[in-house]
Amino acid sequence: MAKMWAGLTSGETSKIADDFNSSISFDCRMYAQDIKGSMAHAAMLAAKNIIARADADKIIDGLQSILDDLNSGTLEIDMSAEDIHMFVEQVLTERIGDAGKKLHTARSRNDQVALDLRMYLRDEITQISEKVKALGRAVADLAEEHKSTILPGYTHLQRAQPVTFGHHLLAYGMMLTRDLSRLADCAERMNVSPIGSCALAGTTYDTDRYMEASALGFDSVALNSMDGVSDRDFCVELMNCIAILMMHLSRFSEEIILWSSWEFKFVELSSEYTTGSSIMPQKKNSDMAELVRGKTGRVYGDLMALLTTLKGLPLAYNKDMQEDKEAVFDAVDTVKMCLDVFVGMVSTMTVIPKNMRDAAGRGFINATDLADYLVRKGLPFRDAYKISGKIVHDCIEGGMVLETFPLESYKAYSELFDQDVYEAIDLTACVEKRISTGGPSVKSVEQQLEYVRKIFG
Ligand code: ARG
Repeated sequence: MAKMWAGLTSGETSKIADDFNSSISFDCRMYAQDIKGSMAHAAMLAAKNIIARADADKIIDGLQSILDDLNSGTLEIDMSAEDIHMFVEQVLTERIGDAGKKLHTARSRNDQVALDLRMYLRDEITQISEKVKALGRAVADLAEEHKSTILPGYTHLQRAQPVTFGHHLLAYGMMLTRDLSRLADCAERMNVSPIGSCALAGTTYDTDRYMEASALGFDSVALNSMDGVSDRDFCVELMNCIAILMMHLSRFSEEIILWSSWEFKFVELSSEYTTGSSIMPQKKNSDMAELVRGKTGRVYGDLMALLTTLKGLPLAYNKDMQEDKEAVFDAVDTVKMCLDVFVGMVSTMTVIPKNMRDAAGRGFINATDLADYLVRKGLPFRDAYKISGKIVHDCIEGGMVLETFPLESYKAYSELFDQDVYEAIDLTACVEKRISTGGPSVKSVEQQLEYVRKIFG
């Protein structure tokens, strides 16, 4: 097919080269951004008397009709076109004639594609952020409900100290607040307009890059035209934000998978978010959480793919950069799906406080509190730690827990022990006493809730 760019080359590329070169199958999703960018460009060209006002009006009307027709489905994107930029320009020229050929004055596809991608991705950041907030609210609601539900806290996946389920959930709430703030930072750096950088070296026309940028909602313009067309940091940065967010979802998934196993049974996922087995009738599988964990690897791959593509590229534009889009679109699509499924999964799961409490009662998670009891009575912590360790050992030997260990046996270890030891090691009291900022007491959890709710709305 003869190309609009036929000049030195005949433009008669082979079919196999056309297919290989074409990006329309994936950049077609940026049609609205491409058209809006072109409208602003035409308006600027007319305002600066680079093209006639009448031509600009024709271009803008023509572009609007293309946008309307694409939105309504009246116009179909021609998948044999080279890319979305060529397709739009071609249809425009077919519709309005020679005026359409003036649109590409003082720009290049190099700054055009960078513009479209920034406009597209900044909208995606808004959508992703809204979904993060929705998940944050679902997590906060569940945390509120379970702010006094005792749960064993783990280190090394061994029962460690008592916390509450609300406290545990709010750890994820905090991660999500950082994800949101990373996305906001990324959006700010992304909102810089590359248009007017042209192919790489700016232009001899008296353009107004600031006018075009502000018409398109950008805060500023790229201050070096070579950087303007070759910078893809904004894609890498967004994928980095998404990779971290996915890492958080993946850790959360891993816990949900553990918690819903028969070994823990702290939660039961709703049938809406689980699958059965084709052979084992007793199975209720946590496929959604497993898939989120699995897709995290895929998103890391997207990030690594683009970083690797970019690392050896000389300035300015190289066709390698066309590979940016599939990676970043895949990361964006994947994280949005994962967030949607996560909100549903978390807000419909059944929490089983009794199993959490039973597990908390079986792991000596109040042993630190036993040592602290002796410390409060005047013993140095290291000595108290040793005595408590021996008592735990005796309990295990005798099939007891700290709560059922008799007072005489306690006293055999130290005269400092008294009846009040049982209050000191009561799990609810153990949690309630942990009033340090960020701790699991109801009061501390309420402060944490207040913080995240302000952010998630
Ligand atoms: N489809 C191309 C891309 O996605 C658009 C830019 C083409 N520029 C060029 N000089 N061939 O990167």
